[in-house]
Amino acid sequence: MARVVVVGSANMDMVVRAPRIPRPGETVVGSQFVMVPGGKGANQAVAAARLGAHVTFVARVGNDLFGDHNLEGYQREGIDCRFIVRDEESPSGVALIAVDADGQNAIVVAPGANMRLTPEDVERAEEEIARADVVLAQMEVPIPTVTRTAELAHKHGKRMILNPAPAPRQPLPAELLRNVDILTPNETEAQSICNAPAYASPESLGQALRALGVPVVIITLGGEGVLLQNDAGAQRMPAYPVQAIDSTAAGDAFAGALAVALAEGRSVESAVQFAQRVAALSVTRLGAQPSLPYRAEVDDFSRPAEP
Ligand code: RIB
Repeated sequence: MARVVVVGSANMDMVVRAPRIPRPGETVVGSQFVMVPGGKGANQAVAAARLGAHVTFVARVGNDLFGDHNLEGYQREGIDCRFIVRDEESPSGVALIAVDADGQNAIVVAPGANMRLTPEDVERAEEEIARADVVLAQMEVPIPTVTRTAELAHKHGKRMILNPAPAPRQPLPAELLRNVDILTPNETEAQSICNAPAYASPESLGQALRALGVPVVIITLGGEGVLLQNDAGAQRMPAYPVQAIDSTAAGDAFAGALAVALAEGRSVESAVQFAQRVAALSVTRLGAQPSLPYRAEVDDFSRPAEP
């Protein structure tokens, strides 16, 4: 069985559908409200578990109702929760999410316990990292914690995937990037890491990221697909055409699926194609974790015939 260790955040998401995202100072009357488990780390852990991997999740939740609810959910998915700390000082992370009529979202996160995940919390899971095929992290927990995760992955010769989301507000440290094998930003995150202007092409962003020392860069471009850049050059891979309801967690679905496919021994190209199918399915449903598909659904989902 493919083994994946995910180090990252766990949130409770408050999601409201609205005709459009409000401007500053504006109130917009929305429609449906749902409260669902989210958080980039947890979404990626759940995505990987539903696709059939053995998943160990390293995280912090508050000692509160949201923490209870989320932990029960991870246990139901068969995730190894031994390295999830109940934080006595801070509440569980919460995200407020508005989703517009086109499925685009705007998110505000109160990180709570996520920001108290320490390098020592990750070190306690070193044995699991040593047994893993792939290690996966994002940027909703402190940078030193992510850096330590990458160091341990490197020490044990494991493939390290970093999904640099949300967009970092400071340059990513060189000691982190040197231990990252695969980086999966969206365009905004890629621009922010390279300090590049909004008009920079994905190809130039990919080159700039590779110049920082990351061998494989996969820039996700929403409905435009992805750009894969590695030693073989740059390659655009089109998205699966679907009717988007909610793009929340599409990047998480992609990252979790990529980790599983690589852990199963697929090539990077084949893993990207698999991850694109999983991400496409996820945007057809509302909410973060409820939108993440199970393996059988992905196997049944084939590209619609071209008109
Ligand atoms: O990537 C989507 C996630 O970002 C949401 O689930 C929300 O919790 C925020 O962390």
